[in-house]
Amino acid sequence: MATRQKTVTRQKPTSQIEAPKGKLGIMIPGMGAVATTFVAGVEAVRKGFAAPIGSLTQMGTVRLGKRTDARAPKVNEFVPLAGLNDLVFTGWDIFEDDMYSAAANAGVLEKELLAQVKPFLSSIKPRKAVFDRNYVKRLDGPNVKKGKNKMDLAEQVRADMREFKKTSGAARLVTIWCGSTETFIEPGAAHQSVKAFEKAMTQNDEAIAPSMIYAYASLMEGVPFANGAPNLTVDLPVMHELSRKNEAPICGKDFKTGQTLIKTILAPGFKARLLGLSGWYSTNILGNRDGEVLDDPGSFKTKEESKLGVLEHILQPKLYPELYGNIFHKVRINYYPPLGDNKEGWDNIDIFGWLGYPMQIKVDFLCRDSILAAPIVLDLVLFLDLAKRTAELKDIGIQEWLSFYFKSPMTAPGLYPEHDLFIQMMKLKNTLRHLRGEELITHLGLEYYD
Ligand SMILES: NC(=O)c1ccc[n+]([C@@H]2O[C@H](COP(=O)([O-])OP(=O)(O)OC[C@H]3O[C@@H](n4cnc5c(N)ncnc54)[C@H](O)[C@@H]3O)[C@@H](O)[C@H]2O)c1
Repeated sequence: MATRQKTVTRQKPTSQIEAPKGKLGIMIPGMGAVATTFVAGVEAVRKGFAAPIGSLTQMGTVRLGKRTDARAPKVNEFVPLAGLNDLVFTGWDIFEDDMYSAAANAGVLEKELLAQVKPFLSSIKPRKAVFDRNYVKRLDGPNVKKGKNKMDLAEQVRADMREFKKTSGAARLVTIWCGSTETFIEPGAAHQSVKAFEKAMTQNDEAIAPSMIYAYASLMEGVPFANGAPNLTVDLPVMHELSRKNEAPICGKDFKTGQTLIKTILAPGFKARLLGLSGWYSTNILGNRDGEVLDDPGSFKTKEESKLGVLEHILQPKLYPELYGNIFHKVRINYYPPLGDNKEGWDNIDIFGWLGYPMQIKVDFLCRDSILAAPIVLDLVLFLDLAKRTAELKDIGIQEWLSFYFKSPMTAPGLYPEHDLFIQMMKLKNTLRHLRGEELITHLGLEYYD
């Protein structure tokens, strides 16, 4: 076969990216199952007794140039990311447990593994949280800040951040929300500008949830913020404005793990083959604290909105009314304590093919929620730190190229999100190629047949 042996052409100059010098401080509001599984895992990998499976930054590669070029560096060799040995951690929680006790309570990791990282985990104690039961009805705890109003609480969080930076010696910081899912809130007047938001904070406006106070504090300090839960948090005009102004990149919402991950793997396949869909019934049983919080209708509504949008955006019923114009899509989450963090997700999928003949697919996913979420947390903090050091990314606000990690990806106002996992992966890897001045991969491939 004759292949055109072109030398690889650089598409454009490499973007300016500062080197990741010094330590990177990771700040986590919410030291529960996901956060502790992430931090314990990083320490286990650093000590060399576990592998960072599921992490694109640690195990993934990027193909460069033609298939015949055989160039596929590892992601962390292709772009300058902070190394695992340079990560330092802090967090906030309403409970007083240090990371070791919190991890033991969460029950995700085995005792033997936890024992090996005990001294490190025990050294991470929770700072007092900004918390209000009105936003998470099923929780209450003693380790909570007091302040004269929400602005005062934000000042206290900012002071925590500065203190952590100083005492840990971190050169840079990133915040990632791993706190509980807050009750459903719609964007309102208080969220439209920095001025309106600050006034609302001093007036203790109920439109301002605790997660927004952490987000405001972080962005005011110029620190990037990722949102792992479906709460609005940084998906608000005020936060977009602050993010761009203070060069603190943002992304969210809601880590794409478990059932939604599978949904965004299967649905693009049905669409690619033009198989119709009449119904998708998804139910979950889980027994961890997240499950308990989601048992409250307000928190569940926030989660439900995040989970339901996925199919509509992937299947595009307006473009394909005969195939996807009439889908019954239902998502249920049931709290069932005996399962702990080992969630079981069932999907009953009714599809139809040639001449309308019906078929069914059943999926039973016995998954471990926090095991799926931990590598996402790692990738997000490393990529957000990369964005902060990259001239082309640091002041654009929302980092849409990180949609890959979210159930409900944030996009510029008026733009629909991409939910298809494979489009999201192309977007992410092409962004990295673009930053390094490499050709984007289109998969056209005609050049091999000239
Ligand atoms: N595990 C997954 O696969 C997954 C996937 C997508 C999203 N999420 C979301 O990630 C978040 C964390 O999940 P988890 O399983 O670790 O839950 P978890 O209940 O184990 O941990 C959440 C922690 O946040 C703390 N918290 C609540 N409000 C807080 C506040 N205002 N300030 C500080 N701490 C606060 C709670 O006390 C708790 O320790 C949840 O919102 C969950 O919906 C998890």
